[in-house]
Amino acid sequence: MTRNVRLGVNIDHIATLRNARGGVDPHLLHMALAVEEAGADGITLHLREDRRHIRDDDVDLLRAHLRTPMNLEIAATDAMISIALRVRPHAVCLVPEHRLEITTEGGLDVLGHRDRIAQCVETLSAQGIRVSLFIDPNPAQIEGAAEVGAPVIELHTGDYANASDRLQRAAQLQTLQASAARAQRLGLEVHAGHGLTKFNVQPVAAIAGLRELNIGHSLIGRALLVGLPSAVGEFKQLILGA
Ligand code: PXP
Repeated sequence: MTRNVRLGVNIDHIATLRNARGGVDPHLLHMALAVEEAGADGITLHLREDRRHIRDDDVDLLRAHLRTPMNLEIAATDAMISIALRVRPHAVCLVPEHRLEITTEGGLDVLGHRDRIAQCVETLSAQGIRVSLFIDPNPAQIEGAAEVGAPVIELHTGDYANASDRLQRAAQLQTLQASAARAQRLGLEVHAGHGLTKFNVQPVAAIAGLRELNIGHSLIGRALLVGLPSAVGEFKQLILGA
């Protein structure tokens, strides 16, 4: 049986580049369609509170034209939940958000915000949106995700990606493997992402039962050298070959 781990491409940084000049180039929708054409299984975009890259009109335009599932990353705020309910993406990934951070720095604290997150999961799920929680590979957070009724978790791979040597990386990979196994025993679908590159993606893609990877920064950076379709193709091949 072939294992298909889906590749979700995070296109935030295409919007970052566009916003640097304030015009329409590079055109986010054209780029997203090219990413789909090149073999991505989904498009991920993070609507941040400060709209530093993706804007509300991007979300609407992409929602109308994407052919693959849209995965909208948002913070668990009332304002963001109402946008998600209006847009109705295929999936919403709830992420923590602090205004000054450069990227999403840690996973969502499900235990610390249990009631709030349970309420968001219920509201979004009632509208047919598949909710995932971006969490650290930590047993308590995984149990918390199951308790609040989320069908999916996305494991934060930042500690694995940032490990300073081989031993540490192996230990972080083991943590991810054990977390994925625990989550699946609890009936959760498992995704992963953050900091994944051509050089570190394969061991994560090979984690038993993993269903989706979301990759942005390194893939978009690679596209500067080889072009966006080739960069998508390279990551897809690495994931399939894992
Ligand atoms: N998944 C989530 C939930 C994220 O917040 C991010 C970063 O925006 C990614 C995946 C992609 O991470 P990277 O850009 O490091 O590939």
